[in-house]
Amino acid sequence: MKSVKAFAPATVANVSCGFDILGFAIDAMGDTVELVRKDEPGLTVVSIEGDEGRLPYEVEKNTCAVAIQAMLDEYGEQVGMDIYLKKGLPLGSGMGSSAASAVAALVAANRLLGDPFEKKALLPFAIAAEKAACGAGHADNVAPSLLGGFVLIRDYHPLDVIKLHVPDGLYCALLHPHFELKTSDSRSVLRDQISLKHSTIQSGNVAGFIAGLYQEDFDLISRSLKDVIAEPYRAVLIPGFYEMREALKSIGALGMGISGSGPTLFALSKGSEKAEEIRKAAEDIYQKVGLGVDVYFSEINTKGAYLID
Ligand code: HSE
Repeated sequence: MKSVKAFAPATVANVSCGFDILGFAIDAMGDTVELVRKDEPGLTVVSIEGDEGRLPYEVEKNTCAVAIQAMLDEYGEQVGMDIYLKKGLPLGSGMGSSAASAVAALVAANRLLGDPFEKKALLPFAIAAEKAACGAGHADNVAPSLLGGFVLIRDYHPLDVIKLHVPDGLYCALLHPHFELKTSDSRSVLRDQISLKHSTIQSGNVAGFIAGLYQEDFDLISRSLKDVIAEPYRAVLIPGFYEMREALKSIGALGMGISGSGPTLFALSKGSEKAEEIRKAAEDIYQKVGLGVDVYFSEINTKGAYLID
């Protein structure tokens, strides 16, 4: 096999109550990576489209190359590959942009090598890429981008990743205001320690959320969409955050939170009937704070990354 192409979807990490341990994939957009095998060993990033010239070509910094290199180190043979990346996701948006690139690269590279790794076994390589991109090896974007649906990272050491049930009719809106927030900056405002009280609240909510998914109980999902760990420190970085939440709740959204490290906000709802009202509320509130916004709607993507023929 000489060349392989793969696609990996955007993701919402944390889902409010599951900081660094919960995420889901969305249908709205994603990244595509094409790999071409070359005779001499070594990785080369040949082209990057859709990033306005901002992503690095150096193999030690580019998330596709970092991920593939981690995989080749484990594989034990330095197979040469040219990398062509097409970004379908805005950078620094909180929709798992670096994760989608790394996951698409790994799915393509695995096939190019003849599928030596099981799908889940690709995750440590994708986590290495996330670490290179933002300084923290979190898996709550790469795991859902790879596997699709809702994914729980029960533990990182050793990695224990569980695909969760997706209730019928759960629908997601993504509100992407026109400014960037780097994950490293958005992590730097967090506290190292949390109180016993907050730990109890957060555990109750993440357990409630997962029970809500399995019981298809939208009220329970709604009650559980709360975050006392990251959101209080990050919400201040996102103009209009609390006003938006009130507006979306009054329209009937189940809840709203920060998508990953932001600035994109996600709102879950039962069905898509409220989509246009949500769009209007988002546009009005962001207009007041002087920001443009892109609004996307999506079902939960249950397929994850895939090869393109
Ligand atoms: N869990 C990560 C964070 C996701 O909140 O920093 C980054 O997209």
